[in-house]
Amino acid sequence: MLDALRTANSAFPFFYEYDEPLHGDPAEVHVKTPVVFIEGDGIGPDVTAAARRVIDAAFPHIVWHDQSAGASAFEAGIVSGVPAATLNAISETGLVFKGPLATAVGSGGKSANITLRKMFELYANVRPVIELPSVKSLYAGKGIDLVIIRENVEDLYAGIEYMQTPDVAQCLKLVSRMGSEKISRFAFAFGHSHGRSHVTCATKANIMKLTEGFFKEVFEKVAAENPEIGASHLIVDNCVQQLVMAPEKFDVIVTTNMNGDIIGDLAAGLVGGTGLAPSANIGDRVAMFEAAHGTAPDIAGANVANPTALILSGVMMLRHIGAFGAASRIEHALYTTLSEARYLTADIASDYKPVSTSDFASAVVDNLGYGSDFVPEREFTPIHTADIVPLETLRPVSRAFDGADVFVEWDGDVHTLAEKLKAAIIQLPFSLEIISNRGVMLHPSVVSEAETVNHWHCRFLHDGHDNDRRIQEAICALLAAISGVCTWMHVERLQSFDERPAYSKANGQ
Ligand code: NAI
Repeated sequence: MLDALRTANSAFPFFYEYDEPLHGDPAEVHVKTPVVFIEGDGIGPDVTAAARRVIDAAFPHIVWHDQSAGASAFEAGIVSGVPAATLNAISETGLVFKGPLATAVGSGGKSANITLRKMFELYANVRPVIELPSVKSLYAGKGIDLVIIRENVEDLYAGIEYMQTPDVAQCLKLVSRMGSEKISRFAFAFGHSHGRSHVTCATKANIMKLTEGFFKEVFEKVAAENPEIGASHLIVDNCVQQLVMAPEKFDVIVTTNMNGDIIGDLAAGLVGGTGLAPSANIGDRVAMFEAAHGTAPDIAGANVANPTALILSGVMMLRHIGAFGAASRIEHALYTTLSEARYLTADIASDYKPVSTSDFASAVVDNLGYGSDFVPEREFTPIHTADIVPLETLRPVSRAFDGADVFVEWDGDVHTLAEKLKAAIIQLPFSLEIISNRGVMLHPSVVSEAETVNHWHCRFLHDGHDNDRRIQEAICALLAAISGVCTWMHVERLQSFDERPAYSKANGQ
């Protein structure tokens, strides 16, 4: 069925070189875009129905495929929150337009949103932050018009966590070259396609040199390939300070997952909150469009929610498929409706009598064809996500083995631990370099009054080069020797890439 709707030019991602004005009966238009439609939970049915009506009125060339996810799936015992039929339909269409999904609390179920993002490798989260007419905020009149592009899959959100000892927890922050390169390339591709002129990379590279620093390094290499667009780096805490002081100075911000989570909500707060913020989750083959807000259980089913965020998500979807004229028509109609301030939902109506979700949508539909001076003027061109591929040329060419870090549980003092470990490894090709606790070096010299816990980081340097098999055997022998002294929890290889140490130093080292 879906295949029959596709045409010869519909290679993933869907992009059709048609746009308004499309004259005549829509039924005669041969190119249709299939989109999976998930109404979602809470206010989802209200806001998705409203947004769909607006999209259909401006662009009657979408074939919606209704599918479910979220609460109904959890109730049916589907722990991922997304039924197989929905996944199959998304895989076929490559496009999803969805309402918010409730996350099952305390049932062991996962977030259906995270399932969808990870399942289809939707690596780029895009959040425009734009001042809207009639929306009161501290920054009204500043002309905020920026976009936050957040890596959406990796970082602390890989969800790999451990209790290392009964008293110490750990979360792995994973940042890959591929992930960093793809999101950086996406940020510049987005800049080119959306008429943007500057990309700011926000990281904590000064502290996390090998994760956030890696992201920054890859960004800078990609930036050098895109000289038509300005590029700069800001430490993330400085970035949020500047966002609060002078948000109008920013254009595109690209950042890692956790930073983006926080910056995204902060920035949404500058222009009225997440209730008005659209978003897109983009991958090579699948793109998913949704509002940034949740299910708003407090106003669910009351037909009072504001569908602005989802209507703007629809605008993003139309641009993604190349329907620039229809996207622009909706944007102008929405801005006209907001600036007239005759039909506003309760969250932004303040002095006015609020209207329902559906009446707001009707007002937007009625305003299709009207122009608004508030809409920022931009030139849009297609973005070809399938062309965004990491290049092998950025990889290092040489690697060397320097030693191993072993994390052990130990309830005694550092000097006793050091003496016992040195004695245990005397026959092995390793030497004990340092021992640290909570990131602070305590052996060989104590430089701190730091409190210690029962989780010790012991660094062993290897005394020379060897082949990989013999290195692995040496690490096994090291672990066997350590296990005669204390309990080890995890081991890390110390390597150098292109003669640069690929591991951090302890504080004080
Ligand atoms: P929320 O965004 O649902 O609600 C926060 C506040 O904003 C509430 O007072 C709500 O009434 C208001 N609000 C949100 N959207 C609005 C709209 N369109 N119009 C008017 N008012 C609006 O955040 P909350 O309460 O933290 O989350 C509720 C549920 O939504 C949770 O299960 C959460 O996991 C889920 N959620 C789902 C998301 C998604 O599907 N992408 C995103 C965020 C949360």
